[in-house]
Amino acid sequence: MKADQINIVRWFRDAAPYINQHRDKTFVVYFSGAAIASRGFDNLIHDLAILHALGVRLVLVYGARTQIDDRIHLENIIPYFAHGLRITDDKSLGPVIEAVGRLRVIIEARLSLSLANTPMSGSRIRVCSGNFITARPLGVINGIDYHHTGEVRKVQTDAIESQLAAGQCVLLSPLGYSPTGEVFNLNAEEVATRTAIALGASKLILMNDKPLPEDFPAQLTPAQIDELLLADQFPGMLATHLRNARTAIADGVQRCHIIDHELDGSLLLELFTRDGAGTLISAHAFEGMRQATINDVGGILELIEPLEQQGLLVRRSREQLELEIAHFTVIERDGKIIACAALYPYTAEKAGEIACVAVHPDYRQDRRGERLVEYLEKEARLQRLKYLFVLSTQTMHWFMEQGYQPASLDDLPVERASLYNYQRQSKIFIKHL
Ligand SMILES: CC(C)(COP(=O)(O)OP(=O)(O)OC[C@H]1O[C@@H](n2cnc3c(N)ncnc32)[C@H](O)[C@@H]1OP(=O)(O)O)[C@@H](O)C(=O)NCCC(=O)NCCS
Repeated sequence: MKADQINIVRWFRDAAPYINQHRDKTFVVYFSGAAIASRGFDNLIHDLAILHALGVRLVLVYGARTQIDDRIHLENIIPYFAHGLRITDDKSLGPVIEAVGRLRVIIEARLSLSLANTPMSGSRIRVCSGNFITARPLGVINGIDYHHTGEVRKVQTDAIESQLAAGQCVLLSPLGYSPTGEVFNLNAEEVATRTAIALGASKLILMNDKPLPEDFPAQLTPAQIDELLLADQFPGMLATHLRNARTAIADGVQRCHIIDHELDGSLLLELFTRDGAGTLISAHAFEGMRQATINDVGGILELIEPLEQQGLLVRRSREQLELEIAHFTVIERDGKIIACAALYPYTAEKAGEIACVAVHPDYRQDRRGERLVEYLEKEARLQRLKYLFVLSTQTMHWFMEQGYQPASLDDLPVERASLYNYQRQSKIFIKHL
């Protein structure tokens, strides 16, 4: 098989758990007017069509600020904003409705494409737009009259759910209607966030107009978002995404993703690869270290078997691992065990053995090994152990860098020394705590 064929097969297999995971789940996806006007928009539509074909229940929410600005400019109307919101007076309401309506038609048309030789070939997406969002006026705030600018009063979840259940993709605009029959110009991102919350969506996906800053974290919890917002480092759209993501997570949306729409394929990379391409916000850390449980045995075996075959780790059977699982600490990343280490105490000698330290090859050189060993050392101190030892054949220098010193068989607890494997000829290292 050729290298690129092998890569395709590997990629497909790696994506399979995500395909299963996302099927029948509700994703609310927000993209701005600028994204619609960009050259990459067709590709984004193709990627959304793939999600639809894979059984994701899609609610798309679009913004229209760029197109409304153009329209208002064309009509020589002076735009007014207050606190980042457009003041939609009587004069600008018409252009707002026209710009938003036009975009709806454009998006529906793109979603209908099913020409041969395009990624949409064979796709059949039925799109549905309607009066799903009930709005109310923002009113007069601090003496500023927002006129036809409004906020979400209610999301008609039953109506949206029945469309999704019928296999339709729901398209929401930034316009809402009041029970008095008026039209209100809404903030599209608020529409997306409130809709995701009301539907109890699995995901709220917020497409950012610019590449995310290089040092922007790949995962965030709500507490970390608070810290970032406090530092006021990310003004503008990104800060708005962060605020909305935090609100959505606090109100029950499982995960939020902030993705750069300019990066071609970013949506697919984010949803079908473990490392993603944007920022994931979830209530609990995406990756974390914890004590292993019996349910981790399969994951640990998968991690250590290749290393056992290379002779780096001593072979352990499933049964042995099940018996010893309480000694193991693991790092789990998005449901997969990517690192492990074990601490075996010899209480009488106040000693402990560190063993089976392993980090998945894709996740090395990021201090995970070091953090695991540090964690076990802390554990050992809590258990009042006086020193730790390790037997290693090829990782001696790594342990020396963690502060372990060469030692001899006589330094081991007698019980452990009697089990020393003379064939393996491991080197012994010790660290006093
Ligand atoms: C050893 C191991 C746990 C380190 O995990 P890690 O998360 O990459 O470790 P860290 O990020 O804390 O440290 C990485 C550093 O250690 C170095 N390192 C990795 N393996 C090493 C080895 N065998 N000997 C010396 N240095 C080593 C790396 O080169 C890197 O150094 P650099 O940053 O200067 O390039 C990982 O490489 C592994 O799983 N190896 C195979 C299993 C094994 O040998 N386990 C020990 C058995 S007791």
